[in-house]
Amino acid sequence: MPQETWSALDAYLKDRFVGSDAALDATLEASRAAGLPDIQVSPTQGKFLMLLARAVGARSILEIGTLGGYSSIWLARALPADGHLLTCEVNAKYAALAHTNIERAGLGAVVEQRVGPALDTLTQLLAERHPAFDLVFIDADKPSNSAYLAATLKLSRLGTLIIVDNVVRGGQVPDETTSAPSAHSARGFINTLAAESRVSATAVQTVGAKGYDGFALALVTQTT
Ligand code: DHB
Ligand code: MG
Repeated sequence: MPQETWSALDAYLKDRFVGSDAALDATLEASRAAGLPDIQVSPTQGKFLMLLARAVGARSILEIGTLGGYSSIWLARALPADGHLLTCEVNAKYAALAHTNIERAGLGAVVEQRVGPALDTLTQLLAERHPAFDLVFIDADKPSNSAYLAATLKLSRLGTLIIVDNVVRGGQVPDETTSAPSAHSARGFINTLAAESRVSATAVQTVGAKGYDGFALALVTQTT
């Protein structure tokens, strides 16, 4: 099944389940105009994240990888008025654009942005004794995923839901002979996650406008 089919169906589903949305549309337009990589979650994935966050009653969300704030807006929309989304971004230019996008979406009061390497931010959060997050979305530099997971687990409680984007990357993951760095790092992360005794986890393959990929879902079942 070709990419063209996946993209057409993604557009069809987006029309029905998301429709036009001024804040999200403006975010995508501003991100494109500023030359950000066009790699944010798709509209249907964004709504999926929002629904997951609502389903678990998330009041406190951690996002690793803000980019232009597209997924941040989706996640923040799931929060109650006194909720909190903390989002980490290493690129100051991306973070500044995300700030504009999040403000335009009317979510400035519930979103806190931290600019800098996410592992540094996570270390700071631990030092600040930040309360455990209800939901974590990891969507940044893929080779760091295992390190992000380790740090995230220290900021989790029983029942924290962790979602990790892009764990399939075109499907070469199980091929030990592939030299593609993305497949190599995806395999490493999947093995780490599968061996992690503090979570019950799975991974689901996806196709759509962003090609063939997948996400992992992990529920924290043990905190020590
Ligand atoms: C890339 C990163 C992503 O988070 C994604 O969803 C798709 C692609 C990338 O770095 O190529
Ligand atoms: Mg991603």
